[in-house]
Amino acid sequence: VIEHKVDSLLSIMSLDEKIGQMSQFAGQGAVTGPKIDDHFKGYLKKGEVGSMFNVFGAKGLRKIQEEAIKNSPHHIPILFAADVIHGYKTIFPMPLGEAASWDLGMMYKTARIAAEEASSTGISWTFAPMVDIGRDARWGRNMEGAGEDAYLGSLIAEARVKGFQGITTYKDFTKPNTILACTKHFAAYGATESGREYNTVDISDRTLRETYFPTYHATVKAGVATFMTSFNEIAGVPSTGSKYLYTDVLRKEWGFTGMVVTDYTAINELVAHGFAADLKEAGMKSANAGIDMDMNGEVFVKNLHALVKEGKVSEKTINRAAARILELKFMLGLFQDPFRYMDEAREKATVGKPEFRKVARKAAAASMVLLKNKNNVLPLQKNVAKRVALIGPMIKERRSLNGEWAIRGDRKESVTLYEGLTAKYKGTKVKFTYAKGCDLLNKEGHKGFAAALRAARNADVILFAGGEDFNWSGEAACRTNIQLPAPQVDLLKALKKLHKPIVMVTLNGRPLDLSWEDANLDGIVEAWYPGTEAGNAVADIISGDVNPAAKITMTFPRNVGQVPIYYNRKNTGRPLDEKHWADYKSSYIDSPNSPLYPFGYGLSYTSFQYSNLKLDQKSFTKDGQIKVSVDVKNTGKYDGQEIVQMYIRDIAASVTRPVKELKGFHKIALKKGETKTVHFTINKKTIEFLGLDAKTLVAEPGKFDLWVAKSAGDNSLHTQFSYQ
Ligand code: IFM
Repeated sequence: VIEHKVDSLLSIMSLDEKIGQMSQFAGQGAVTGPKIDDHFKGYLKKGEVGSMFNVFGAKGLRKIQEEAIKNSPHHIPILFAADVIHGYKTIFPMPLGEAASWDLGMMYKTARIAAEEASSTGISWTFAPMVDIGRDARWGRNMEGAGEDAYLGSLIAEARVKGFQGITTYKDFTKPNTILACTKHFAAYGATESGREYNTVDISDRTLRETYFPTYHATVKAGVATFMTSFNEIAGVPSTGSKYLYTDVLRKEWGFTGMVVTDYTAINELVAHGFAADLKEAGMKSANAGIDMDMNGEVFVKNLHALVKEGKVSEKTINRAAARILELKFMLGLFQDPFRYMDEAREKATVGKPEFRKVARKAAAASMVLLKNKNNVLPLQKNVAKRVALIGPMIKERRSLNGEWAIRGDRKESVTLYEGLTAKYKGTKVKFTYAKGCDLLNKEGHKGFAAALRAARNADVILFAGGEDFNWSGEAACRTNIQLPAPQVDLLKALKKLHKPIVMVTLNGRPLDLSWEDANLDGIVEAWYPGTEAGNAVADIISGDVNPAAKITMTFPRNVGQVPIYYNRKNTGRPLDEKHWADYKSSYIDSPNSPLYPFGYGLSYTSFQYSNLKLDQKSFTKDGQIKVSVDVKNTGKYDGQEIVQMYIRDIAASVTRPVKELKGFHKIALKKGETKTVHFTINKKTIEFLGLDAKTLVAEPGKFDLWVAKSAGDNSLHTQFSYQ
């Protein structure tokens, strides 16, 4: 039915109207790219705006929509989009943090709430999820993804798409609280050379398909409605002009039927890439590659008409792109009621609901990773008398708590660590002193050190909170030094001289080099950017009201020289045995190969013992399977949750395989003293990989290693199986 409606509308639209549909403009609500002139008003008058983004509020959007409908010859409504990345008003932890929970149901739920809030304000399209695999901690955008692993990343990508879209089938957007999701940034944006934003990507087709493609593909299978291009080139072809990516792979191979939008002015950038002589050629290459909508570049509106007249872009291409956009508008019900998402009463009743904040608090605590806990320095129990010195620039910081991609989150509403901790311990035996010590942006240098030392001198424990300013990660926020800013480390060194236990809570957007902190501090909690409920969630963890259970999904290096570093590396022909360093091996002379904290690592206040790894048989054939089981016991003093991981290694194959590959996990809850048996299955799918052609999945007979482990760095429970 929708197809007929689209066809009959297209048949009466002028070429310019169709090209107008292919154009998207930024409002002035938030700046997420280079500032450009406020041109959209002229196009709005002509009825040639297909979509707008970063304009906010039901009332304001209604006004723009009224104008669009009045001016458009066929009364076509605008599709309103926004970067609703980890929440709209209620901000959940930054996506890389949330990924550390390994809790797919929770990630579905937070995306659902983000959609509930955003849709009530008139937004019907989010530029999320970002599913780019990240292996280089210098890259600022890691914060917005799910980490380094394609298997886990694909499951998270699927959960987020389904959460935003609130549906299981692509065509059904009839409920007013569903929004279109957008998979970004296709492709391999995270493989940027030297971790520098917008830089070149040059990887083999195998790496592209094996490591980077699966997460994007997973979203197509989950029914994602739209895709966004990436800024980078791959092997000499910028994504935004890549017919290979957008026509051959995305549509022909994967069967994607939705719409593709560029990233911000990415068509214009084809000129700077040296891929097009001018904007007109850039527009031609992009349209012919299969790109449907131009984000904020004015290239399509200015050039496509002439390109069609000159026969350089076919009218069929324009019709196809416009049809994809109109189809989404029909699917969302915008033709029936262009204002259906702009309901001020619903907006008021929905945005920032207290029940959403409860979820935000839970999600934030579930994302926090306990990296170190020497002598069980944590939790700081409420009923044990202690003087605690709260030191550091993040204790009273509010501005940074939401991270960079929380455009509508009200930074003033986020709960500081000071507020959360003082509320939690009010009336208990724990007493606080406070001093900032140094500031986040390094403006004050060492000026506050003396006061901090004074505040800490009589304390039993020092609780330091530091990290990165929120502008230090996100888009165009890459770093060549991934340590904590110098004054913070200097302050920690000065505090260390007091010989008191020091616990650090760090809020940051990337894996940091915490080598000094790991060697010198007693406790470390990686809290990421936790969002609106930051301080309360930190207090839940510090007090032990919530037992930490998160595990990192990106490797933490020992130093910046190790990056890119990831657990599923290749063995090389001269692998190093880390226990017996030898010359002429694949190694460094000034650093171990192993990371500081491996993928999948994270501690709990309790302890877990794995035992009794069993396989029901040692080998299987094409249609068979092996059942794997392991007993996990909570051997500590607290109830807790554990993420049990299964890894395999294909020992010899026609193509070299990684030293470990994650193939399954379970997050289980165990009461103290409780044991549970955890089950996994191995079948043909578990051992398949891309054969020599880098395209076809093959399962080759042979031997495999198998580990059921606490992290990628845990080799203690190992066995082998074979495939015949
Ligand atoms: O959605 C973003 C994208 O991820 C990076 N550039 C700007 C876009 C729109 O804000």
